[in-house]
Amino acid sequence: MAQAPITHQEFTRAFRDTLGMFATGVTVVATRAPNGDPIGLTVNSFNSVSLDPPLIVWSMARHLPGLPVFAACEYYSVNVLAADQQHLSQLFASRSDDKFRDLAFDEGLYGVPLLRGCCARLECRNTTRHPGGDHLVFISEVVRFDREDRPPLVFQAGAYRRLAED
Ligand SMILES: Cc1cc2nc3c(=O)[nH]c(=O)nc-3n(C[C@H](O)[C@H](O)[C@H](O)COP(=O)(O)O)c2cc1C
Repeated sequence: MAQAPITHQEFTRAFRDTLGMFATGVTVVATRAPNGDPIGLTVNSFNSVSLDPPLIVWSMARHLPGLPVFAACEYYSVNVLAADQQHLSQLFASRSDDKFRDLAFDEGLYGVPLLRGCCARLECRNTTRHPGGDHLVFISEVVRFDREDRPPLVFQAGAYRRLAED
């Protein structure tokens, strides 16, 4: 028997679930708003692009209120979360107006917030942005970075995971 065609909503759900099979790390991308307030969001679309020049990529949903700030900022940070920082992933994926209120953080170039206790921190110059459907794709030059030998937080199929010890 022929299958009924799926609706657009069913397609989107299935597509999202299929993409979710790709295991990623979890990052918090952060910058300063023009009034100086630190802002940030949880991002797992982060990836490496080029070693020379040093470029990274991530994408931001166009509907997010922080989009104009990230699109216009000169510098931002990418903070790669460690396994014990799931609470930070949840905090920065929430709609809170003041995610940094109870958070001690370092400051990078131009005051960009750098979270503590991460696996890695990258300071990026906001060089190019490209349209990507319902997202804006950032490809940026990394100008400074540091790392610590900590196990990473992993996200797959809509759930947080940890790497198994072998
Ligand atoms: C694990 C995880 C990964 C996410 N990755 C992205 C991403 O790559 N791009 C994006 O725009 N939103 C992503 N989000 C959703 C944003 O973090 C979420 O919409 C957040 O509320 C945005 O912050 P705002 O509401 O302060 O703008 C992700 C959420 C989670 C939990």
